[in-house]
Parts: sequence; structure tokens; C-alpha cells
Amino acid sequence: MISFKNDYSEGACPEIMQAMMKTNRLQSDGYGLDPFCEGAKERIRQKVGNADCDVHFLVGGTQANLTIIASALRPYEAVIAAESGHINVHETGAIEGTGHKVIVADSAQGKVTLEGIRKVVTAHTDEHMVKPAMVYISNATEIGTVYTKAELSSIRRICDEYGLYLFMDGARLGSALMASDNDLKLSDIAELCDIFYIGGTKNGALFGEAVVIVNERLKKDFRYMIKHHGGMLAKGRLLGIQFYELMNGTVFFDLAKHANAMAQKLQDAFLQLNCPLFVKTTTNQIFPIFDDEILAEMDKRYACTIWEKVSDHTTAVRIVTSWATKEEDVDRYIDDLRRIMK
Ligand SMILES: Cc1ncc(COP(=O)(O)O)c(C=O)c1O
Repeated sequence: MISFKNDYSEGACPEIMQAMMKTNRLQSDGYGLDPFCEGAKERIRQKVGNADCDVHFLVGGTQANLTIIASALRPYEAVIAAESGHINVHETGAIEGTGHKVIVADSAQGKVTLEGIRKVVTAHTDEHMVKPAMVYISNATEIGTVYTKAELSSIRRICDEYGLYLFMDGARLGSALMASDNDLKLSDIAELCDIFYIGGTKNGALFGEAVVIVNERLKKDFRYMIKHHGGMLAKGRLLGIQFYELMNGTVFFDLAKHANAMAQKLQDAFLQLNCPLFVKTTTNQIFPIFDDEILAEMDKRYACTIWEKVSDHTTAVRIVTSWATKEEDVDRYIDDLRRIMK
């Protein structure tokens, strides 16, 4: 069985595994106060082109989202997200558990719209309602689409108009930045967002997300918030070692480029075979719609995620590739599909 279920189905890229072995017996201080974390932070500051940003490492995406949102908002404040936003759908009430309401705004192709944000803000009129104070976006989105620079700039402007923070969940930022239609650079994201994170878990790390805080107001006491939410690892060095390697030269980008190329090869094949798409993407997540009989055949050899039923006899699935996806597996998948669809 070959899995196209996710981009975290394998361990870590060789650079990270080698660094783990090489540093294994070295001693260092705990809780992220070690030279590995310092080195990784420095590399991230260079890559985002901002020497003043604060960088913190957390283990996973949900933990990063809840720590950031709880840290930025006052008790009565709320966060705006797309309906498909990870914080709205797949975090088991973690955000609401910190006392902050997630308000769903209208979206298109998984991306919050300006009108959606405006509608939410203007509908929350006084202290008898929660106060929208942050816009959460994910890039790439949960359906594999990406924000353009023009879109992100417009969201920044509306956030400024209404005094909202802009937070980008970058669990799949590598894939977004390497997408063929992407025109954002890390430095643009640092200029336009108040806070964002660079995802390692889904791009070649064993685990880890690097939170980058640009807005001065959000920097204070962030380490207290990490610890308060149980996110401060005694062996925090493991995160530093990993991000130091990911941020070495083009490693982070090369891993994402490979994942995207494998997914796009599959998506091109689907189009050639006249297989409809639920949404056309440019990243490492793709969404073909299969006839159920074909899907049942393909399921015997390849694992993917059922996304949603499209008609009585067709189903949209999610296929995800990773830094480790083998091109020969992609080719075999395409050959098998071609044979089954004949
Ligand atoms: C966009 C996005 N954000 C956050 C997460 C949460 O990550 P974790 O499973 O590490 O908590 C995911 C996981 O799939 C995700 O896709």
C-alpha cells in the first residue's frame, strides 16, 4: 500500500536525521535556551529579512494556533476565519477552549474574502457581543489554494481599517511559497502579517513550527504563554536543530518544491484523463473526483482521504504528496489509473 494521505506520513529529511545524530551527545540548556535554537532563529530572521522579529518554536500546528490566538487576544475578543479554516474545523475546540470565539467569514476557494471580514466586523456592534480582533488565514489553505500578494495586501488594509491583527497559519507555507502561482516572499509575509508561522511538520521535519512575531505588541510574554499552554519542551533543542537544518540555504524550499512537483504531476495526469477536479490547486494537495468504482479499485493499492461525496456515484478525494514522495510511486499510480479508467 502506498499512502498519499498526508505530508507527515514519513519521518524527517536526511539533513535533519544526520544533524540529530551528530548533536546527540552534546549537552545544552533546556527549554529552547540553547545554541541550536539561537542559530535557527538567526537563520529565520535572515530569511524573513527582519532582524527584529521574535522567533519561537512549537511542536505542532494546533498548539501554535491556540498559543498565538490566546496570547494576542483579550478575553472578550474573537478571531475571524474561513469556514474551512483549520481552527474552525479540525482543532477540537482548542481555540474556543482558550475562551475565544471563532467567527466564520465568507470565503472563496478556502480564502477569506474582504467582504466576509467587513460583514463580520460590522455585525459585531457593541459590548454585548464578542469583538473581532484578529483575522486568521492559512497559506496554503486547507484545500491547497494560495494567497496572492494582492490578496494579502488587501486583507492587511482591511485589518488596518478595523484594528485587527493578521495571523497566517503557515503549516504548509513551504508548499505555498513554491506554488507556481505564488508571488509572495517570506519578507512580504513578514511585512504584511503581525504574526505567522513556518511549518516544519509537513515539510520535512520530524515535528515543529517556527512562530515569527513581527508586531511589537504581540512579543511580550510569549514564552510565558507557551509554557502556560504546555508547549515548552525541556528538550527544545530538538526544534532548534531541525529548523537550523531546514533553514540552511534552500533546503526548506527544495523539500516543498519536490512535494508540489509530485502532486502537480498527478493533477496533470488527472486532467489528461478527463478526470474532474473538486478544486484545481498549485500546491501539494490535490482533489480529483473519481467514479466510485474506479476509486474502489485504486483504494486496493493507494491510500488517500475521502473529501466529500459529489454525486450518487462520484467522490472527491484528497491526495497529498510530501518531501519524500517517490516519483516512481507517482508514475505507478498514473499507470494504474490509466489502465483502470480504460
Ligand atoms: C493549515 C493547518 N494548520 C494547522 C494544522 C494542525 O497541525 P497539528 O496536527 O500539528 O496540530 C494543520 C494540520 O493538518 C493544518 O493543515
